[in-house]
Amino acid sequence: MKIIVIGATGTIGRAVVKSLAPDNEVVKVASRHGDFRVDIASIASIRKLFQDVGSFDAVVCAAGVAKFGSLDDLSDEDYTLGLTNKLMGQVNLVRLGRSYVNDKGSFTLTSGVLSQHPIPGSSSLSMVNASIEGFVRAAALEMQRGIRLNAVSPVWVKETMEAMGMGSSSGMPADQVALAYKESVAGDRSGIILDVRQFG
Ligand SMILES: NC(=O)c1ccc[n+]([C@@H]2O[C@H](COP(=O)([O-])OP(=O)(O)OC[C@H]3O[C@@H](n4cnc5c(N)ncnc54)[C@H](OP(=O)(O)O)[C@@H]3O)[C@@H](O)[C@H]2O)c1
Repeated sequence: MKIIVIGATGTIGRAVVKSLAPDNEVVKVASRHGDFRVDIASIASIRKLFQDVGSFDAVVCAAGVAKFGSLDDLSDEDYTLGLTNKLMGQVNLVRLGRSYVNDKGSFTLTSGVLSQHPIPGSSSLSMVNASIEGFVRAAALEMQRGIRLNAVSPVWVKETMEAMGMGSSSGMPADQVALAYKESVAGDRSGIILDVRQFG
């Protein structure tokens, strides 16, 4: 399969590339490095990516930012960041990518544990992650030509916690998180939110 991995240089994306690369042609995409570059917050940039890459069998998106912060601290701009980047960035990958994906291809987006298990400060991230999951469940119903659409919901990744100087004993190694992405791409389910805790 020809698989486009967006966010390929990131903590999760690197592990996804590692798990998919032995058996597939992986096109590595990120905002600053990689085989191709994209800014998922820009429709024009997404359109150019698909034009440049051409047809493909799967897109995995392990990119997208939203701001963590309290209700008192988050500004309009902070909320808008999550909406335009992590939410609509991934929604637009599906909307525009549908014209380029091969029959029986797939899209795998990324939400996160905060959609179901919020904590103080996660209002923007929880809102965005839950919206991604709602989009996936509904839009999957309208996919044609056997095209599938899922999201993976990661928990805190061990390497991320280490990089942030947090205790990482409760974190999940990125290689284990990647198993859920592999299942989404290689399996036959659609409209599903894959909880990484069910893998590995
Ligand atoms: N890590 C965790 O603990 C965790 C937990 C739950 C959910 N998640 C979610 O998983 C996703 C990936 O997280 P991560 O920790 O792997 O992130 P990361 O290490 O910060 O990597 C982000 C990746 O996305 C790329 N990127 C950044 N902005 C972009 C843009 N505007 N357009 C296209 N690509 C862009 C980066 O490219 P460059 O390197 O070129 O900038 C990089 O490859 C995020 O949506 C995050 O919310 C992560």
